[in-house]
Amino acid sequence: MDHFDYKDGVLHAEDLPLSVIADAVGTPVYVYSRATLERHARVFKQALAHLPRTHIAFAIKANPNLAVLKVMSREGLGADVVSGGELARALAAGIPADDIVFSGVGKQTHEMVQGLDAGIGQFNIESEEEGIELAALAAARGQVAACALRVNPDVDARTHEKISTGKAENKFGVPIDRAGGIYARLAGLPGMNLRGVAVHIGSQLQDLQPLEDAFIKLGDLIAELRAAGQTVTHADLGGGLGVPYKAGEVFPSPAEYGAMVGRVCAGWDVTLQFEPGRVICGNAGVLLTRVIRVKRSSNGAPFVIVDAAMNDLARPAMYGAWHDFDAAVPNGSRMVANIVGPICETGDTFAMGRDVDALEAGDLAVFRTAGAYGATMASSYNSRGFVCEVMVDGDKFAVVADRILPEAISAAERVPDWLE
Ligand code: LLP
Repeated sequence: MDHFDYKDGVLHAEDLPLSVIADAVGTPVYVYSRATLERHARVFKQALAHLPRTHIAFAIKANPNLAVLKVMSREGLGADVVSGGELARALAAGIPADDIVFSGVGKQTHEMVQGLDAGIGQFNIESEEEGIELAALAAARGQVAACALRVNPDVDARTHEKISTGKAENKFGVPIDRAGGIYARLAGLPGMNLRGVAVHIGSQLQDLQPLEDAFIKLGDLIAELRAAGQTVTHADLGGGLGVPYKAGEVFPSPAEYGAMVGRVCAGWDVTLQFEPGRVICGNAGVLLTRVIRVKRSSNGAPFVIVDAAMNDLARPAMYGAWHDFDAAVPNGSRMVANIVGPICETGDTFAMGRDVDALEAGDLAVFRTAGAYGATMASSYNSRGFVCEVMVDGDKFAVVADRILPEAISAAERVPDWLE
């Protein structure tokens, strides 16, 4: 459920016609709905409310916009961060340091120091080597870093291979069959309070079974660690819950996920931690675009060339991802079209042979479910600048990220003397 609906034949974000935004700030532009963000944060919290001790950290890689983070912070969510930049954003949005979990397979020394300086709640350790370095850094500063050890359970998440993280060949975590020894060695280091285990097997999961399989393995590991005399008070179950990108698709609900977690993790006697990203913000955003022109093709379906491109929304080019595409003011007719951007490569294609609302030059349309992994994956390829972002609240909106013009990007470039 989201708040992008037609009212009298005009697509609105909450109570605001999208054309108002396009007229004010131009296109392409990401439009977020505050009410939708809040709704999903609350639905997720509610889905876990029956569990005794929980901590929810929004995976801010999904949408790190400061206004979005402010909504999360107001909803009482913590943050899962994977870089110094994300850590700074979480703090700037007012998320308490203690509610921040630092994940990420390649934490650099300066980023660990940044986390120690801020006094964040937990580091999720990705390797024995990383744990040794962090413990030494913390000890040298007279600190003790609270940590969880991320394990790789060798479970196939059955999602796109580029966003699958829990198979043995993936770079993430330590092999679960070696976790006992690594845990024991790291737990004995000064500077480290190793308090738990973490797992995250992938993103956009379509069914709960792979998650359940991973959690069962994690439960076995917790029992094994405790039997060996280790202390385990926390278990981070990661994120990964998928969302429908096509109208009519059905995905497991947060409530079903919460029920599965309750069943599988009963008796663990830990604080269960969660890192949801997409499920919170995915359908809370659309990418609003304008049709530049419609070009006849040699073999049937015309090309609808829109002013958004793969640099603004990379998912279709990168993962072959589907985003529903709807006219802002449908005229009642349909057409079969190829939806493409203006960038000079064939990969800049959003859809081929898609049945869509009939469109012509100048019309507005949206790519739906673009609130997660949308603006944050944008680039300035083809010197197109960075896309603008706005947030709607009822019948008002605010620009929450300025459009960065190509001139601003080239202003940061330098031609050395010896080329003048
Ligand atoms: N925790 C960790 C350690 C992660 O690596 C991720 C996502 C999450 C949580 C959040 O997962 P979510 O709940 O959003 O599924 N760019 C890709 C998605 C990459 C996900 C990376 N890790 C896409 O556009 O589909």
